Amino acid sequence: MNKSFIAGIGMYVPANVVTNNDLLKYMDTSDEWIQERTGIKERRYADRTKETTTTMGVEAAKIAIERAGITPQDIDFIVFATLSPDYYFPGCGVLLQRALKMKEIGALDVRNQCSGFVYALTVADQFIKTGMYKNILVVGAEKHSFGLDFSTRGRNVSVIFGDGAGAVVLQPTDDATRGILSNHLHSDGESAEILAMYNPGTHANHWMEEKYADFDDAEIGQMFFSHTMIDNAQVFPNMDGPAVFKKAVVKFPEVIMEALEANDLKTSDLNLLIPHQANLRIAQFVQQKLKLTDDQVYNNIQQYGNTTAASVPIALCEAWEKGKIKKGDLVCLAAFGSGFTWGSTLLRW
Ligand code: UT7
Repeated sequence: MNKSFIAGIGMYVPANVVTNNDLLKYMDTSDEWIQERTGIKERRYADRTKETTTTMGVEAAKIAIERAGITPQDIDFIVFATLSPDYYFPGCGVLLQRALKMKEIGALDVRNQCSGFVYALTVADQFIKTGMYKNILVVGAEKHSFGLDFSTRGRNVSVIFGDGAGAVVLQPTDDATRGILSNHLHSDGESAEILAMYNPGTHANHWMEEKYADFDDAEIGQMFFSHTMIDNAQVFPNMDGPAVFKKAVVKFPEVIMEALEANDLKTSDLNLLIPHQANLRIAQFVQQKLKLTDDQVYNNIQQYGNTTAASVPIALCEAWEKGKIKKGDLVCLAAFGSGFTWGSTLLRW
């Protein structure tokens, strides 16, 4: 069986920097609150009309492909992770295939939110291992700024998120000293509604406490998407922050240890942990729990906020560009979020 390795990596963030103070125009918040509770100083917002989740993914992909020393025509499969797709359907994978004038290759969209990139990378790793594909493009991208409630009502969610994209090219290697060592994926749907965007959707309140009585066909469209939903702010992400926080600080260390133990390795062997950038306090808690030094953990939420599926590849790319990852280094990618879903990938760079 082949092992896979990251042959090229790229990232793209929009030029538009939005500071915490900039958000005061829309809502009752403060730079002090945001920094103290999340660590975030600023984030990037896409150009409203010129940039989409896909176009940002395309920019990151171009860099990853060039660094892998190949062309878009060499890519033989696409895995695109996002929770903020350009269209409800089709997915961003096909839009990227079109934008980069790729061959008529397979394109798969992954909808696993914060753990989306780790899930996408794991899928790609399996295709390389079986020998089915040789050059897989894995993208994580988000345009959160289009789907947030910028009033004070939505401040617990909107101040956290930012836009951006990261991408890698995965290739097979017969070099035993490098590549992906293992992946570990989990889910627990018990708390699915704790961090979710319900509408538009086909749920018809099935999972909610308040069930709808039977309705006639004319009302179906109204239940998918309606003015009432907009008026009641039911078209924005919903999050019980403290509940997510409590679960995250348990599952992050668990899934990192699972990866290390599966490979007979210890926390002291780890050169760099790239945690999903959900909240600096969560990352610091994980670091403390695992007794990792500052040099063993990479965080950049301060500059970009939480970019969900893009956060792990953006942090990985930036860490590599800054020379913090060298050939042979043991790197752990770990993520936790909506679903709940969580996972880790352990690799030798
Ligand atoms: O990647 C996706 C996964 N998501 C996460 O991992 C998020 C995990 N959770 C968190 O990061 C934190 O829970 C938050 C940053 C979302 C919130 O921080 P917190 O320390 O848990 O605050 P809280 O929700 O308990 O709210 C505390 C207070 C409330 O006011 P009262 O009720 O104490 O008067 C909120 O209304 O802070 C208020 N608040 C704000 N104040 C100023 C909430 N959002 C804001 C805000 N600015 N933006």
